[in-house]
Amino acid sequence: MASVDLTTNYLGIGLANPFITGASPLSDHLDTVRRLEDAGCAAIVLHSLFEEQISQATSGRIQNLDPSDKRFAAALSYFPSSESYAWRPEEYLEHVRQLKECVRIPVIGSLNGTSAESWLRFARLIQDAGADAIELNMYEIVTDPLVNGITIEHGLRRVVDNLRHELRIPIAVKLSPFFTAFANVAHEIERVGANGLVLFNRFLQPDIDIQHLGVWPRLDLSTGAELLLRLRWLAILRGRTRCSLAVTGGVATPEDGIKSILAGADAVQMVSAILRHGPAYFTTMRDALSRWMESLEFARIDDIRGRLSLAETESPSVFERAQYIRTLSGWSSWLEYQARPSDEESKLPS
Ligand SMILES: Cc1cc2nc3c(=O)[nH]c(=O)nc-3n(C[C@H](O)[C@H](O)[C@H](O)COP(=O)(O)O)c2cc1C
Repeated sequence: MASVDLTTNYLGIGLANPFITGASPLSDHLDTVRRLEDAGCAAIVLHSLFEEQISQATSGRIQNLDPSDKRFAAALSYFPSSESYAWRPEEYLEHVRQLKECVRIPVIGSLNGTSAESWLRFARLIQDAGADAIELNMYEIVTDPLVNGITIEHGLRRVVDNLRHELRIPIAVKLSPFFTAFANVAHEIERVGANGLVLFNRFLQPDIDIQHLGVWPRLDLSTGAELLLRLRWLAILRGRTRCSLAVTGGVATPEDGIKSILAGADAVQMVSAILRHGPAYFTTMRDALSRWMESLEFARIDDIRGRLSLAETESPSVFERAQYIRTLSGWSSWLEYQARPSDEESKLPS
């Protein structure tokens, strides 16, 4: 496998391979991070420090926020403690310092908030603690019918713009897919100085408890089904933005990782798959990518990155069209097939 070069560049930072750990409690324990590094994880994104944690730190009213809510405990019994989501800002900084001493892979801090207020200055402290980059998670569900899309997009730009003036390290922005014209949002964010886009934020969805007539925030690990939306937008943006592109959400297998790179990802973030299979899954991902590249005689990641992007593919309409008559009519034939009595199934054309 030595003949294949997996090195890549994300946010201007050299990585040994494209596979990295996404923002999550996987970064919380030094031992876990060492195991991730040993298994071949090429960089790590810390769990987020939330805007409220920073803005309330001085008043001593730091709250447990998503996803440390006790109601998540059952769903999350198999992953590391979520206590760290209650870390105070100084503890977060100390953790960055310790990680930088204990591993050689790049360490990316994460901030989660929506406003362009003074809490953003905290990013500079994360930078000064040694973080190699910052990932900004803009998590917001806008419920006010009087707030329009332009206002939200303007706010987003302003946050990135403010951060750009605070920081010398690269900034990645983790975005939601729910914009009417996502390509324009990406373009505007690049224009104000983002170095990378992370596609896409995955929202916690509230679920309804019909026994207790209550609503509770639900956190499920992802499946590969979530990847397709990411593949489409990686493919659309590849070659149209100077930003690095990372995928997050639904990379469950080595095949998913390869698809993400073919669509245009510079870095492939993983959380759910690592929580399921453990840190050694990074070795599986890396080795499978090497073997696949060797089998098709690709020598470098550059040879495959974006090879099936909108700009490179021979059938760009696959990415551009939301409804495709041939696919939809194929689906109705499948339904007809399912509806046939089972004794007739063998007579159907294959
Ligand atoms: C337990 C858990 C904690 C997470 N914490 C954060 C966080 O602090 N900040 C953030 O931006 N994303 C967070 N995420 C989202 C992940 O970074 C990632 O975007 C999402 O899980 C989709 O990737 P996956 O399909 O590889 O799991 C968290 C996800 C999980 C499962």
